[in-house]
Amino acid sequence: MTVLVVGARGSIGSRLAARLRADGRTVRATVRDELDITAPDGFEDVLKDVDSVFLYATRGDTTPFLAAARSAGVRYAVLLSSPASYEAAEYRGPIGRIHRLNEERLAASGIEHTVLYPSWLATNARRDWSAAIRAGAPVELAYPATQISPIHPGDVADVAAELLTHPAHRGRTQIVTGPVSMRLDEAVAVVGDTLSRAIEVRPIGREEAVARREPWLSEEVLASLLDSAAAGVGHPAPLTNAVERITGRPARPLREWVAENREAFAGQSVGKEK
Ligand SMILES: NC(=O)c1ccc[n+]([C@@H]2O[C@H](COP(=O)([O-])OP(=O)(O)OC[C@H]3O[C@@H](n4cnc5c(N)ncnc54)[C@H](OP(=O)(O)O)[C@@H]3O)[C@@H](O)[C@H]2O)c1
Repeated sequence: MTVLVVGARGSIGSRLAARLRADGRTVRATVRDELDITAPDGFEDVLKDVDSVFLYATRGDTTPFLAAARSAGVRYAVLLSSPASYEAAEYRGPIGRIHRLNEERLAASGIEHTVLYPSWLATNARRDWSAAIRAGAPVELAYPATQISPIHPGDVADVAAELLTHPAHRGRTQIVTGPVSMRLDEAVAVVGDTLSRAIEVRPIGREEAVARREPWLSEEVLASLLDSAAAGVGHPAPLTNAVERITGRPARPLREWVAENREAFAGQSVGKEK
């Protein structure tokens, strides 16, 4: 039984491939140069002997890949989606639309599958805050009081590994969250505590956040993220016991991911994320 891990350079994909290998599974781990699941054809070799597949939600059309997977005998897939797919503040926006389209295509393929909905990935702390922290500058937050439930990417990977190799928890969806709900500025404080550094937070307004938009983020996507953050102010982030129920051990706290990745915030070397 071969498990195909698409996106094995990704934060979750790389952990998943490593975890499956450590468990003694036969893994085919591909990067986009080897397997682009939005390509029109050419999937036969990569799908040979594959029983189950891990998929990221992608921007292009995955219909030909999914049809090829079905024909090749793939029996089960895990799709990493996002709560943006269904949350009131986001599902009509671009992030929601992309994730829903991926879910719809997978459902239409006829392959049995589980859609994973992880909460706020701890890796966002690196993506969004590490440059300021390395520079000793304040972390600027629009909606600092919005509540999140940071999840360790390894917990998402472990849930996916379990689903891909055992049928017991193969529900249609699994909402996987971190162990606690906290404000965004409290999450920054956790990073500071773990690094033993005082990190200043500077609240900024929505207009300022829009003005400071990173070039890789489209205006439409940023607006959707800000809408989601606004909706989370004053409301605890949803929590589930999915990580513990599926993997048999509790979800890891944010400080554990920060401790594993402290060099990303230290400014000495920007090593590859663990
Ligand atoms: N950020 C959050 O808080 C959050 C919350 C809920 C859900 N999510 C979901 O989780 C994802 C992030 O997970 P992550 O951190 O593990 O992502 P990541 O590190 O950015 O990795 C994404 C992977 O997807 C692969 N990929 C993209 N398009 C592809 C294609 N057409 N064919 C094959 N591979 C393709 C990329 O491959 P290459 O590296 O080879 O290009 C990359 O390895 C988000 O995109 C979102 O869908 C995020």
